[in-house]
Formats: sequence, structure tokens, C-alpha cells
Amino acid sequence: MDTITLQLFTALSVTSLLSQRVYGLENGLARTPPMGWLSWGTFRCKIDCVNDPKNCLREELFKEMADILIADGYYDVGYEYVNIDDCWMSRKRDQHQRLFPDPERFPNGMQGIANYVHDHDLKLGIYNTFGKTTCMGYPGSQGFLEIDAKTFAEWEVDMLKMDGCFTPVELIPDGYMDMHRYLNATGRQILYSCSWPFYEKLTQKMPDYNNIAKYCNMWRNSMDIEDSWNSILWIVDDFANNQDAHAEAAGPGHFNDPDMLVIGGSGLNVAQSEAQFGLWAILAAPLLMGNDLRKVKSEFRDVLLNVEVIAVDQDPLGKMGKRIFKDSWHGVDGWLRELSNQEFAILYFNRNPRGKKLFKTSLKKMSLPSNHTYDLRDLFLKKHFGHFKVEEEFQVTLPANGVKMFKASSCSLPNNYKHDGL
Ligand code: GLA
Repeated sequence: MDTITLQLFTALSVTSLLSQRVYGLENGLARTPPMGWLSWGTFRCKIDCVNDPKNCLREELFKEMADILIADGYYDVGYEYVNIDDCWMSRKRDQHQRLFPDPERFPNGMQGIANYVHDHDLKLGIYNTFGKTTCMGYPGSQGFLEIDAKTFAEWEVDMLKMDGCFTPVELIPDGYMDMHRYLNATGRQILYSCSWPFYEKLTQKMPDYNNIAKYCNMWRNSMDIEDSWNSILWIVDDFANNQDAHAEAAGPGHFNDPDMLVIGGSGLNVAQSEAQFGLWAILAAPLLMGNDLRKVKSEFRDVLLNVEVIAVDQDPLGKMGKRIFKDSWHGVDGWLRELSNQEFAILYFNRNPRGKKLFKTSLKKMSLPSNHTYDLRDLFLKKHFGHFKVEEEFQVTLPANGVKMFKASSCSLPNNYKHDGL
């Protein structure tokens, strides 16, 4: 190499190293929030295949879920990840310290499922914990991060959910950053889902979301979701109370995760299901279903397959929406998300558990700029709602514990408009 070439080579290497450090996460994944299904919501740690073969975490179950994603139209609207949560492993590592799946439940190894899922044009997600054991007591990745990253890559895994049970909080940031590096080093694109901020919050430590966003494609902010309305309320309020920090860190490649969709289980009615779906879309949240796909009734499937709400969730601008007002007198909250093409998603959320609520409002209350007119489309009824000047009052009818969600398209916004509050 002559001197000039050598200098150029060194300069390029330094630049590439620097850019690697600054843009470490830019692994090209999660440009919009990931969509799919994961086992924890319904199947938890069910491993008794003798007495409960239909609900046992094993190869057949995941293949069945993959089949339903395709047969019932989920894949067509964007759900593509089949994610295996806790309890897939053998209780011990092999003689090379590698993890391996329970051989009775996964007779063809993880590669067997990966092949099946990939043959169906779907993607495979897997789970482990940065700690000595997983939350359910299986071998964790602490001390084995590099081996585990390589193993997952060899199995052709597409996503890793890295939990943080039983990990001293001071080890958490470095552990998650190290795993990010090992995943990148495998050369395989593996979407990295972290529970980093949640475990910091548990010890009252304020997470540095902007740093987390450099290393993780998505991250769990709050406690585990349950299949109940109270659980949704708790998570939504937690997000609203921390929304500035959450929203600043969100964007294409890195999203906040309020946890699974519980729609299609037994805890939510249809109005509450629309509320979860609409709110998750406003939050630019991953849409990972935790239901039993075999048992989802058609009215709930319709919610999960609502392409207009999914389009809000998947909007390429990737901005997280915020709660703009909380009207405690009426029990109604107003949420707003800025979309690309100068559009907005608007959501009115009725906290009242009984009866319909007629709520009078205006777009001014959403802090949209005055002197403009918007066309509102009702995203759950899938029809035009009306044209309104920002100051003009209109009335929405909200179901008990339900939402009204609109896409607002400006008839007159200037090209360079930016909403100050978002
Ligand atoms: C934690 C996570 C859950 C699930 C379980 C599995 O509680 O937050 O989402 O993965 O562990 O043990």
C-alpha cells in the first residue's frame, strides 16, 4: 500500500469506526414498529406436553401459529414475527456452553422452526435474559453473551427479546450494550428488543432513553401487561406521565414498547380492544399479539386487521404521539400523533366504564394551528366524519372504555408546518 492509499484507508477506517459508534443501532431493522405474535401472553411457561398437548410450548404450537398468521390474514397486513418467549430451553447448556432447546419439545432444534417459519416468509424471534437465569429459571446469558449471540445467528433467528430478571441494576447498561455489539458482530440482522429501562425503573433509576435508543430496536418501558382493562390503563398512564422522554427517543429503528396486544383474549371487550389498538398505534408501538390465534373471535380479529389503524402505527415518520389533554371532569383524554404527509392521528379516549359519552370538542383543543381546516376520517368506522375548521366545535360519541380515532388531513397547511408540542 503506498502512503496516500494508506492514509486514505486509515481515515476511512476511523470514520467507519466513529460512525459505527454513533449509529451503532442502525442495523436497518424496525424502520417501523415490528409486528407479529409471541407466546408469553397465552402460553406462559406451559411445558406439560403429556397432560396439555394443545397448549404446550413446542415445535407444533409455533408451526400452528405460523400457519394461522398466514391463513387468517395477519401476515397480509404486516404481522410477520413468530416469537418464542421464555421456557424453550434445556435446563443446562451443552458441553460447549451453548444453549439448546428442550429436545423433546423441539425435536428438530431451533433450526427446524426457523426453517419452517422462513419457508412461510415469516420471521423467528427468541428470548433470553441478561442475568444468570431467565425470569422462569432457565439458563441466562450472563457470562455467555458472545456464545449466545453466535448461537442465535447460526439458528437464523431474526429477533431477540433480552429480558433482565435477576440482574444487578448496575450491570444492566453494559450488558445490553455488549449484547448489541455481539449481535452486530454476527453479521446477521437480528432485531434487538431490550427490557433495559423497565429494570432500571424498578430500582427507581431514571433510564437514559436516548442512550438506550442507540443500542436497542425496541425497549420495554413498563411492567408486564395482563389481559385486563386495568392493566391497559396503568400502562397508558405510565406512558403519558413520561411521554416527553419516551417520545424523544422514538423514531425509525428504535421504538418504545408498552408490551403485547392482549386483544382476542378474554379480558377486553371490543370497545376496549379498539382502545388498546388505537392507543398502541398512537404510541408507535410494536404490535405483537399475545393471544391464542386459534381462538380469536371474528370481531376481535377485525380490530387486529384494521389496516387504517395499522397504517397509523406504521407511519414512516416514526414519531410517538402524546396525550395532549386529560379532561378529568368528563373522563376523556385526547391523544395526537404527527404523521407523514402533514397528517395527524387523533384519538379520544373514554375512561368511563359505563354508557356512551357524548363529548364536545374542537381541533383547537388538540393544539392544531388555527386558521386551518381538516378533513377527519373515522378509522374504526372506516368512513368520512366531517370537515372542520380548527376553532369549530363538533361532537364525538365514545363507547364506554372506548375510543374514537381519526386521521386528520389538512386542507390548508403550509408545507413547512411542524407541530410545536410533538
Ligand atoms: C418477564 C417479561 C415478560 C416475559 C416473562 C417470561 O416478566 O417482562 O414479558 O417475557 O419475563 O418469563
